[in-house]
Amino acid sequence: MQLNLMSEAVRTILQGDGAAAKEPGREAEAGFLWDFWYPAVRSAEIRGNRLVTAMLLEVPLVLGRTAEGKAFAMRDSCPHRGMPLSYGHFDGQTVECSYHGWRFDACTARCVEIPSLTSQDKLKVDRVFAGHYPCEEHDGYVWVYMNTTGTRLPDTVPAAPALPVFSKKYKITHLACDLPSHVDQGIIGLMDPAHGPFVHQSWFWRSKHSIHEKQKQFEPIPYGFRMSPHSPSSNSAPYQLLKRITGEGVTTTIDFVLPNMRLEEIHSGKMWFSSRATVTPVRRDLCRIDFVAAWNLPFLPVFLFRMFGKTFLRQDQETMIRQAEGLKHDPHLMLIDDADRPAKWYFALKANLLESRRTGAKMEHPMSGPVTLRWRS
Ligand code: FES
Ligand SMILES: [Fe+2]
Repeated sequence: MQLNLMSEAVRTILQGDGAAAKEPGREAEAGFLWDFWYPAVRSAEIRGNRLVTAMLLEVPLVLGRTAEGKAFAMRDSCPHRGMPLSYGHFDGQTVECSYHGWRFDACTARCVEIPSLTSQDKLKVDRVFAGHYPCEEHDGYVWVYMNTTGTRLPDTVPAAPALPVFSKKYKITHLACDLPSHVDQGIIGLMDPAHGPFVHQSWFWRSKHSIHEKQKQFEPIPYGFRMSPHSPSSNSAPYQLLKRITGEGVTTTIDFVLPNMRLEEIHSGKMWFSSRATVTPVRRDLCRIDFVAAWNLPFLPVFLFRMFGKTFLRQDQETMIRQAEGLKHDPHLMLIDDADRPAKWYFALKANLLESRRTGAKMEHPMSGPVTLRWRS
């Protein structure tokens, strides 16, 4: 068959599945932050020799766990002819492609067998690799380090994020929801202080009429910013309850850290609550919030927290589904001071990080020191 007679589709297939993603323009255009850890699936989803699929930053992945219990992540595409490896067979050590039976070591993605080769063939099987990504399990998630397509892994990959906990015994729970929007919209939605009274009206939390002026101190931290430790808002019932039980003050600290993470810690005496929300880009038009919370508050059973948490997430999700209708038409948007200042910092942090990666210079922080923001919510 002549190349010039091939259909566009066939030509694309023969160019190899990574070809499109390797064009630098295409990656930049998607607005993803590469070379960071992202949660791919919940640990509990991988049982026995099951292969599961996920997508991160528009990269299709196949994940599993070896007989020794080590989680692994490979690009869900056979380097031979692009068959998704997830259709193949996993024996606890190697993944066998369903098309021509090439086998790959699950942890290194190195090819260990090409069944069609004869003793005459010169092809070095161990020089063939499927795509693979570093993988770690923490807090009930399988994390995958998404290094930029087509680049070598750095010699040392930083450790995957772990949720801070403050006692030996604690309760922990996970929630997730999909948002039909770009990760940037998901993230600025997560850190937006002004939507609370309109989106999160609930009898157990607050009403629209409790809106009042607030002022919060923020400070720069590496790759992000912190809402400095403070006593949480007086119009929220759960904080009032906590204060009454411990008889001590309540302090909250909230951090945002690139690429996508909001961490919150609440302390009152020996009692604590710690949570993390990450917004992970699946595709450029789809992201997912993964929320994990841990606490040692005896009066807060998991089922009750989940009930409140799900309500909150559903409120955010419904709002963003509706917002996505509007964003489809590419409207002109505004970010206002001070309520949208965290969103501005997020965009500046992201731009400065990309700039520092491009030039090799130190990353500039958009905040030169502590700042007080004022808004009504
Ligand atoms: S496509 Fe996987 S072995 Fe041929
Ligand atoms: Fe919200």
